[in-house]
Formats: sequence, C-alpha cells, structure tokens
Amino acid sequence: MQAGLESLGIAVPPTYVELAELAKARGVAPGKYVDGLGVTRMAVPLVEEDTVTLAARAARMAMEAAGCTAEDVGMLVVGTETAVDHSKPVSSYVQGLLGLTTRCRVFETKHACYGGTAALLLAMDWVRSGSAKGKKALIICSDIARYGVGTPGEPTQGAGAVALLVSDQPKLLAFETGKTGAYAKDVMDFWRPLYSKDAVVDGHYSVQCYLDALEGAYKAYQEAAEDAGGEGMYSDRFAALVYHVPYGKMSRKAHRHIRTLDGDKEPDASFDRLVGPSLMLPSQVGNIYTGSMYLALASLLSCSREDLTGKRVGLFSYGSGSCAEFFSAVVQPEAQARVKALGLENLLEKRRALSIPEYEAIMAAREKLDDKPAEETAGEGFRYQGTRDHKRIYAR
Ligand code: CAA
Repeated sequence: MQAGLESLGIAVPPTYVELAELAKARGVAPGKYVDGLGVTRMAVPLVEEDTVTLAARAARMAMEAAGCTAEDVGMLVVGTETAVDHSKPVSSYVQGLLGLTTRCRVFETKHACYGGTAALLLAMDWVRSGSAKGKKALIICSDIARYGVGTPGEPTQGAGAVALLVSDQPKLLAFETGKTGAYAKDVMDFWRPLYSKDAVVDGHYSVQCYLDALEGAYKAYQEAAEDAGGEGMYSDRFAALVYHVPYGKMSRKAHRHIRTLDGDKEPDASFDRLVGPSLMLPSQVGNIYTGSMYLALASLLSCSREDLTGKRVGLFSYGSGSCAEFFSAVVQPEAQARVKALGLENLLEKRRALSIPEYEAIMAAREKLDDKPAEETAGEGFRYQGTRDHKRIYAR
C-alpha cells in the first residue's frame, strides 16, 4: 500500500527578532549572522506559547487543508525535545485541544531533532502494513529552540511546529518504500541536561557530527536503494535536496559534502538549484529542531519555481546524540499548488518584530516559567503553568 504526506500545516509564534539587530546588540558584524550563518530572522515565542499550542495550531492547518475530521485520525505522535512535562506527553494535551477520539494511539517521541522523523517513518509503516485500516496518522514536530542570551548558539534559536498528515492518499509526497539509510552514533555534540532550560552544545563539533552522520546515512541510502553506479553524479537523481536546517549555512556545508562525495569538483555550483528554495522559509524562522527539515520541505514546495511533479526529493534528518536518516519521496501532482494555497509566506510576513530589550525580557520570563510554585500558591497553581492558557491561545 502507498503511504505518504496528504497535507501539512505550520505554526510559528507571532513575533521574531531581526538577526542584524541582534548582531548589533552583541557587538558582532551583522554579516556574521545573516551571511555567515544564513539566518535573517529568528522566531521568538511569547511567554504564553509552548510546544503544545504550536503543535495544535500546526495540526489544525494540516487537518483543515485535507478536510480531515477528528474521527479520521487513528494515531497522533508529537516529536519534540522541548516537552512540557517529564511524564505526560505533549501529544495528550494536543489530543484534548483537537478533540480527537479515544480510539487513537497517542504518544510523544524524543531523539533531539530526529524525534519527528522517527514518528513519521513509524507512521508510514503503520499505513503500509494495513494496520491503519484507512485511518490517518498525525505527526507533529514542535519545539522551542533555546541556547541562552549571549551564547554562540543564540543566533541559531527559533520556534515553531510542523504537522504532517500521513495516509494512503499521498496528495503531496509519496515516500519511497525501503529507500531509507540510517546512521546512529553515541556522541556528545548537543544535549540538554534535566536541570537546564538551555541546550548545551559543542558547536563546531556538532557540525562535524552532522556531516559524519550525513555521509553515513547517504551511503546507507544508496545501499538500500540498490541503484549505485550508472552515469552522472548520484545526487543529480534528486530534483531537490532538503537537509535538516539548524541554520542556512549548515545546509550549504551539507550539500558541499554530498557533492564532494559524489566527486563534484565544483560542489557549490548546484546549491541554488537543488537547495535554495528549501531555505527561504527557514531563513525567516531559525532552528525549530524537530520541524526544521519539514519546514524546509514546505519551503521547497511553496517557493520553488520549478514544476517538481513526479520528481524525486532527497531528505536528510539529523538528531544530535545522534541518529540520522536519508530517505526520499516523489512529489505528487498539484502538491505545489496545495502548499502555496496555505499562504505560508504571508503567515511569516504578518509577524511583529521584537526589539532586543523585549526579546531579552521574554527570555528572562521564560527562564522562570516552569519553576515549582511556592507552597502558598500550590494547589491549582501546582499544575503545569501553561496548561490553563492552552485553550485560549489555541482558540485564536
Ligand atoms: N560576514 C560573513 N560571514 C562571517 C562573518 C562576517 N562578518 N564573520 C564570521 N562569518 C562566518 C564564519 O566564517 C563562519 O562561516 P563558516 O562556517 O563557513 O566558516 C560563520 O560565519 C560562523 O562563524 P563562527 O564559526 O565563528 O561562529 P561561532 O563560533 O560563533 O558559532 C555555531 C557558530 C557553532 C554554528 C554556533 O552558532 C552554534 O553552536 N550553534 C548551535 C549548534 C548548531 O546549530 N549545530 C549544527 C549542527 S548540530 C544540529 O544540526 C542539531 C541541531 O539542530 C542543534
């Protein structure tokens, strides 16, 4: 049975920071952030927003786009590395907000930025096996990326969610069965200890780990696809390559690496053609961890001027720690028109710019968000603080 992406939805906070402004405030040349890292704007969530509200809003867009009702969904998985509770999954809160039925498998997955991909691959096998019995899987990648004020990672923050509706009616993308290459290795490149709100990262090492994983997954994909050899460069079999995008420059490094492996003497020459359109939306949002590669995919389908119908797209998902996967899908007729109709570029244009002091105040307030309440305010307040506002924020 065919399995693929029937629709998608995106949610971003209504506010962002201009990276040129942030650079000035940090005494750094704006070119370092904008050109050196390849990010123009970074989404910053207001204090009231969390991974639950982002996830639910993205899911609503994906469901509305497909005319999908709550009864149609048989599986809901949220991939996140910035959950709101040590035990209760984000997916349960989202199930409540979306009004999904009790006849639904609902859970959360975590593996850094790979958590959503793990869920997506599982959902595809669920559909292909026939176990879904015509139901759809809602896979949501939702995160708030936070490194902390003044750290090297600060300009690579972001926030947002991407919802993927997976079914036997792939109106956007049909994933190629068996064509996946995985690579996993125990490394300490990026992590977030239980005591910390901010991620800890060995920045330059994390870039190397990403590239090692890309190489391993790309080679594993070629073995799985059993189509090595032949004429031309292997990566030219793809009409586009969509990489995990912690920041735009990382995609350039990734592409350069793949093309060098292919034997290309001018590894940057194909970058604009094969990768450029996938970076247009991410450059306005920043890193959204689990959703980053899927935002890049949405960007490709929304912004590419080329007719991609019937063409193959290569996808590379990387989660620090690490696990990575290179897999592929074929673009379906009308997919680009359907994604364009979501108005994603307009959604980003409508946001409000925060001043640097406003952004810093939000960061400071978020730092305190999940602190255990004082004894006298325990009781109602002892529940997760964001929960009480979920319905109001989601209702907007
Ligand atoms: N004009 C133009 N470019 C400039 C410039 C200027 N004025 N000044 C510097 N640059 C360029 C540099 O040459 C460099 O480019 P190259 O990488 O091509 O050499 C780029 O700007 C960045 O400069 P630095 O390497 O000096 O920057 P840094 O040391 O401050 O930190 C970083 C960069 C390591 C990416 C840091 O932002 C970081 O730690 N980010 C978080 C970790 C991360 O995103 N890692 C990615 C791989 S892991 C992953 O993908 C999982 C995940 O989502 C986290």
